[in-house]
Amino acid sequence: MENAKDSIEVVAERKKRALSCIQPTGIPTLGNYLGAMRNWVGMQDEMDCAFAVADLHAITVRQDPAQFKKQIYEMFALLLAIGLDPDRTLLFVQSQVPAHSEMTWLLACHTQFGELTRMTQFKDKASKHADNINLGLFAYPSLMAADILLYQPDYVPVGADQKQHVELTRDIAERFNNLYGKVFTIPKPYIIKNAARVRSLQDPTKKMSKSDANQNAYISLKDDPDTIVRKFRRAVTDSESRVYYGEGKDGINNLLEIYSAITGLSFEQIEQEFDGKGYGEFKTAVAEAVVDTLRPIQQKFGELIKDRPYLEKMMAEGAGRAAAVAKRTLDKALKKMGFVVM
Ligand code: TRP
Repeated sequence: MENAKDSIEVVAERKKRALSCIQPTGIPTLGNYLGAMRNWVGMQDEMDCAFAVADLHAITVRQDPAQFKKQIYEMFALLLAIGLDPDRTLLFVQSQVPAHSEMTWLLACHTQFGELTRMTQFKDKASKHADNINLGLFAYPSLMAADILLYQPDYVPVGADQKQHVELTRDIAERFNNLYGKVFTIPKPYIIKNAARVRSLQDPTKKMSKSDANQNAYISLKDDPDTIVRKFRRAVTDSESRVYYGEGKDGINNLLEIYSAITGLSFEQIEQEFDGKGYGEFKTAVAEAVVDTLRPIQQKFGELIKDRPYLEKMMAEGAGRAAAVAKRTLDKALKKMGFVVM
């Protein structure tokens, strides 16, 4: 009885787990940072977290090898620079943990053609890369399911565009558990409350995106202060001059969203702060707030990116810890399926 009681307490006390990954496809934007990455930093206090650089996902479209390698180092350095703490949080590079590729095959054999055909991201990417609709692009959700299920997380913090993939992951996990017995925790998508939804500075009806042809449309986390100020000065607004949140004021609404995300002030408080002041002054204030937020990250990133031996040491540590967790789940899945595991 004593034991049963103890184990109940342990279960009750277990911290929730969270896992997410980010593709190394270039320096993220302010939108990626305020909408997702920044929230990961806060999650470390509440949950056992794991974050990975999803390099295997990136090759579903062609990558230039030299550029690709650079981007993997950069994304890993950036995870550290924004404040993810490797002492508390598992940080690793996906391809350095072979279980991801191995688990993908097991899960691919439990993912239906019809399910994959329904994925909006697949349809989207297939139409954009019509000359290269490869098996990997199609099977991408099985790889993502492997990333997730190997670590038994309760939550998967993702943007709305990835929710469909997490839901498919749940379906795959349930299907597997029903066939072979419980192996996987069923994860939930974790859509971050009051995450900032940052829009293009040039067309505020669109999401801010690093693939925008117009560089003035987005703030890259690497932009220097002058560039940031210039881009905000040029941000599209409207023909009024009063700072308030309202319909038909997409540009100003976007700046309010950014300023609010950074300062923690409500829209009303910001409207008061800029009462009687014009758009010029408001834009400068937003730009300065962004510069101040990015400064320490950029400084840290600058130091880390010069130090590949340190980055490689951190990668090796992360991959070692991740592999231990992932192998346990992989072996369990293999055994339940009837494989001879040695
Ligand atoms: N597919 C995600 C994206 O493009 C990245 C990703 C890969 C991911 N594996 C994951 C996200 C596992 C969450 C969990 O943004």
